[in-house]
Amino acid sequence: MNIEKYSKERYTTKVFDSDSSLSDSIINKVKNLLQVSPSSVNSQPWHFIIAGTESGKQRIAKAASGAYEYNKPKLTDSSHVIVFCSKTSIDDDYLEKLLDQEDSDGRFANGDFREAQRKGRSTFVNLHKFNLKDSQHWMEKQVYLALGTLLLGASTLEIDACPMEGFDPTILDQELGLREKGLTSVVLVAIGKRSPEDFNAPLPKSRHKQEDIFTNL
Ligand SMILES: Cc1cc2nc3c(=O)[nH]c(=O)nc-3n(C[C@H](O)[C@H](O)[C@H](O)COP(=O)(O)O)c2cc1C
Repeated sequence: MNIEKYSKERYTTKVFDSDSSLSDSIINKVKNLLQVSPSSVNSQPWHFIIAGTESGKQRIAKAASGAYEYNKPKLTDSSHVIVFCSKTSIDDDYLEKLLDQEDSDGRFANGDFREAQRKGRSTFVNLHKFNLKDSQHWMEKQVYLALGTLLLGASTLEIDACPMEGFDPTILDQELGLREKGLTSVVLVAIGKRSPEDFNAPLPKSRHKQEDIFTNL
């Protein structure tokens, strides 16, 4: 696979083909990509809600109101919409659950490795909780890694995607009952197939020149 080719071919789809629906096999691949996304100290402080039904997409589209109305057709015409959520806190139970998973996945040769991982992860979690006081921001950074993984990955699966920060998280959190679940919405991605009418598809990419963004030492 030529990853450079896919990184150049991917683009933000602005108009989706509303008749096109992604197969279960593709959606499973999308789930696999999200599941293996990296995160600081393997904290994985995320949850992904995947809407593939008309009613599910309509519920999410309620958050594209007011100033965000321009995003609504992407949410309703695409095949699936993924709500990227971050956790709102990391507690001891959650840290223990992570350790148990790593244990059952065979990450620890013995109890000493498990303890070392517990200490290392707690140090980072507590640093953000008590010293830097930026836990929410830190967790959302991890969610954005999953976003990057998905955007490039979608291109390699030869499907189209539109990332969206243009929505009202207060409306969406309420609609999906996220806060009660210890979650909050961060970013959305609509996936599907582009419409032949998508004005954005033929436009060339525009990025900073390499000499402006790279420094060689
Ligand atoms: C975090 C993030 C949020 C974005 N939000 C929106 C959005 O709400 N609506 C939209 O049409 N495009 C949105 N975009 C698309 C960007 O405008 C687009 O990625 C950028 O212009 C680069 O173009 P490209 O993705 O086609 O390469 C978003 C992109 C990112 C990464």
